[in-house]
Amino acid sequence: MKEKSSNGTAVESSSLPRRNFVKKAATIGAGVTILPASTVFTYAANSALGLGIIGLGGRGTYDGGEFLNNTDVRIAALHDVFEDKVKAAQANFDRKCEAKGYGKIPESNLFKGHRGFEKLVASKDVDLVLVTSPPYFHPEHLEASVAAGKHVYLEKPVATDVAGCMRVLKAGKQADGKVSVHVGFQKRYDEGYRNTINRIHAGEIGAIVLGQSFYYTNDLGRQNKPGMSDLESRIRNWVFDMALSGDIIVEQNIHIVDVVNWAMKSHPIKASGSAGRALRKQVDGIPASMLTNDHYMLTYTYPGDVHVSFTSNQFRNKGYRQQGERFFGVDGFAETMQSGPATITLNQVREGQKTGDRMDAGKVDLHAAVGTKMKALVDSIKSGKYENQVEQGVETTLTSIIGRMAVTSGREITWDRMLKSNDNWNLKLNLESLG
Ligand SMILES: NC(=O)c1ccc[n+]([C@@H]2O[C@H](COP(=O)([O-])OP(=O)(O)OC[C@H]3O[C@@H](n4cnc5c(N)ncnc54)[C@H](O)[C@@H]3O)[C@@H](O)[C@H]2O)c1
Repeated sequence: MKEKSSNGTAVESSSLPRRNFVKKAATIGAGVTILPASTVFTYAANSALGLGIIGLGGRGTYDGGEFLNNTDVRIAALHDVFEDKVKAAQANFDRKCEAKGYGKIPESNLFKGHRGFEKLVASKDVDLVLVTSPPYFHPEHLEASVAAGKHVYLEKPVATDVAGCMRVLKAGKQADGKVSVHVGFQKRYDEGYRNTINRIHAGEIGAIVLGQSFYYTNDLGRQNKPGMSDLESRIRNWVFDMALSGDIIVEQNIHIVDVVNWAMKSHPIKASGSAGRALRKQVDGIPASMLTNDHYMLTYTYPGDVHVSFTSNQFRNKGYRQQGERFFGVDGFAETMQSGPATITLNQVREGQKTGDRMDAGKVDLHAAVGTKMKALVDSIKSGKYENQVEQGVETTLTSIIGRMAVTSGREITWDRMLKSNDNWNLKLNLESLG
């Protein structure tokens, strides 16, 4: 049976068992040579690791700064397709590195142009690569980093289509035991989120029967300037492009999708729903057929017939911005909100409690969680106890993709059907023309 997938290609139904994507990719990864990570041998416990950053926009600047603030890392190399981004990042990080006594980034380690990442990962000054380019490029940037024997902090999502997820899974397999690879889901390092999910897993609210997840936020800024080519506008405005971003559910809302998978210890078996562009009609440089949705409404079905609702928006919405998850169990209720609180409420009151009393599960501070996560990564590198978060990152990215596929096809999509689809954007962009 065939239907249309997210990019208009055919989706085939199949009967692949759940989590088969992990096993399948395990065999693909065999026999590929990667350079060994030199870090454990080269770095004494008190010497700073060299960080190379691919993609020098908002998150590259923030994450790079947080590595400097929280870990024993110096900025060693920078890459972006655009020269103005490299220059701005150079000025920012030189100032921050000098303040920490590391000195400026060598001019020879500043790379612009589409293929500059190849030189960055090859640099002997780089031990750890931060990938903060648009998600469409993540598979290529991860593959190159792992092949060069570098540790990686890969921002979410890992890819924007199923084919990209499979490439990432393969690179993750190659990295396993040789280098550390973290994926940018900082909520997993937050005290409030961690405690709540641990208490759910410990059985405090009993078996989950229903869930609710939501992500409401404002519109995003346009990056157009007079005289830009269509391609430059498209790359600078990648967040509005389905293929470059994966759509709002894959690029942005994925954080709440990840929390639900984490709480459920699973991925959904199917998804259905709808989405639309009520307020987002046009963005310069983005082909009309590739414009991202500005709202979503989905039902995810998890094993055991547990239903989880998902709604999101990304349009002018100054009045209400919130991300959160609610889990209703047979013995109680758990709630995690991006701006706090994280709470557990039990049906059966305990001594000293009133019905409906919420128990605080811990402080929610996602800025602090980023630093905690970065420290964990650097500790894993320095100790040689390498961590690999690729499989989880792929599972959550695929969970967002199945939602996009459901709304694009207008049909219920099963996990197996998504895996068997030939969901592959494969854009033929002439990035060399960007300089
Ligand atoms: N974990 C989080 O909470 C969080 C928050 C924000 C963004 N992110 C993620 O970080 C990544 C970057 O997002 P952002 O907000 O910084 O976007 P951005 O547009 O501000 O920055 C992206 C940068 O990548 C550059 N770029 C474009 N194509 C490139 C290519 N082929 N090679 C190298 N560089 C290229 C752009 O010029 C730009 O400077 C995305 O994956 C996004 O989802 C994560």
